[in-house]
Amino acid sequence: MSLSRVAVVSKDPDIQQLAQRYSREVFGADDLADALDIVQTVNPDLVLFDQRFGPGRIGEFLDKADKRIGSVPVVIVGSEGRPSGSSSEYLQGGAFGYLQTSKDYVQMERIIDRIEDASGIAGRQTDCENLSSIEDSEEYAQRFFAENIACSVSMVGKSEAMVSSLKMIKLVAGSRCNPILIVGETGTGKELVAKAIHTVRHAGEQFVAVNCAALTASLLESELFGHVRGAFTGADRDKTGLLELAGGGTLLLDEISEMPVDLQAKLLRVLQDRSFRKVGGVKDIKCKATIIASSNRNLKSEVEAKRFREDLYYRLNIGPIVLAPLRAPERRDDIKLLAEYFLKTSAICPEKRDKVTSLTKLAIENLERYHWPGNVRELRNVIERAILLETTDKIGLSGIVLDPTECAQASQSPSSGLIRGFSLARAERELIARALKETGWQKTRAAALLGITRATLYAKVKQYNIERESHCAEARRPANRDDVLISSLHEPAPC
Ligand SMILES: Nc1ncnc2c1ncn2[C@@H]1O[C@H](COP(=O)(O)OP(=O)(O)OP(=O)(O)O)[C@@H](O)[C@H]1O
Ligand SMILES: [Mg+2]
Repeated sequence: MSLSRVAVVSKDPDIQQLAQRYSREVFGADDLADALDIVQTVNPDLVLFDQRFGPGRIGEFLDKADKRIGSVPVVIVGSEGRPSGSSSEYLQGGAFGYLQTSKDYVQMERIIDRIEDASGIAGRQTDCENLSSIEDSEEYAQRFFAENIACSVSMVGKSEAMVSSLKMIKLVAGSRCNPILIVGETGTGKELVAKAIHTVRHAGEQFVAVNCAALTASLLESELFGHVRGAFTGADRDKTGLLELAGGGTLLLDEISEMPVDLQAKLLRVLQDRSFRKVGGVKDIKCKATIIASSNRNLKSEVEAKRFREDLYYRLNIGPIVLAPLRAPERRDDIKLLAEYFLKTSAICPEKRDKVTSLTKLAIENLERYHWPGNVRELRNVIERAILLETTDKIGLSGIVLDPTECAQASQSPSSGLIRGFSLARAERELIARALKETGWQKTRAAALLGITRATLYAKVKQYNIERESHCAEARRPANRDDVLISSLHEPAPC
């Protein structure tokens, strides 16, 4: 049971640890202004608010957050022996939940259940639970995982490309290689690999991650290194950075190519000296964590374009793990396997789990012909949507709904008629607008649905000038044939 992003408005280490326990990424805020900025920038699944701020300031935050950002669940965390307002006062004021203390795990898990139910992410999370019940079987392991490679890596695939990546993962995980670089297009499994390496090396320790594309330069520096009180205007208390929070565990620097060049120099120093200082600090702090950097850009080209430091590139590129895209010929064999794996393990529609059991030959061929710009993530979404739509025991061609523009690219058969009068840019804009509408403008979910990163989604929203209101207006327009085709992608029958 975990969330993707949690913002913590507190400097209490117990509350920060609570967030670490239940979230992949944790963003710390010192005060209300900082908290509003962070919430606006990273769109967290939950905000944990220290009750010590008092009802007045917390009420002010709830009002401003509601006006500026829309609904974000805010949970107030009390502290023993220091009452400041009652739980009902906060709940009536708009808080999503209340915890008596930072150790109130039972209540925290109930709150996460409610958040998952409300946002529909429960299906994704329960996959792991679903998996564990069938994972033990020998037949299951043989069917989906490559031979002689630790199943703990949990990466489906037997293609030539996957086997060579898995060998590298095993070698690197078992070595002392630090830092580690993972490269691959979006959705190829970089984070899955990072977690697998973490499990092999530091089981039981912290795994913390930060997306270098999601934060401004100063916010990212402060997130990574922490800062001391008075380091800059507004720094009215000390803050612990992720390098320190990772302890003897793992720090994943996602989308490292997006890290500002100045910060790249500071990171290089940490990798060389294995120590760092907080912003404004004078004390050296040891860095014991394994640092994993991931990138979906070609870092060598970024170096040539002078956007990425050459010295940092060579420091990172010792034993790179490369994940091939699904459309690569040496990876194509995995498409059928992955589709069957997601069909078997998805918890998107529990009542259909034993009812929808296979895919027709034509459906598989269709999957194998497709271009897969969003790679495994997109394949998983396509299979889950097919499960939702399917009314028989077999997923057929009609249940497989693919992006028509990518189909055209892959099959090079313009005669299909699906894209007549439809420019690539228009199709892209339309898909993005529909994904945003479908997810109620939750950008993390919309990006996941589209198989792109949040940063890419932000850029596209800006590029196409997509706005909530204008999209609503568009939706009221009578739909033409193309619109109907696209809309069928996003309106699955209720299961
Ligand atoms: N080989 C695999 N076997 C099973 N599931 C996989 C595999 N590869 C990826 N996935 C699943 O696909 C989804 C995307 O994977 P992940 O988040 O690790 O990709 P990523 O490369 O980090 O993407 P991005 O660059 O967009 O952050 C996840 O749900 C992950 O569990
Ligand atoms: Mg990732």
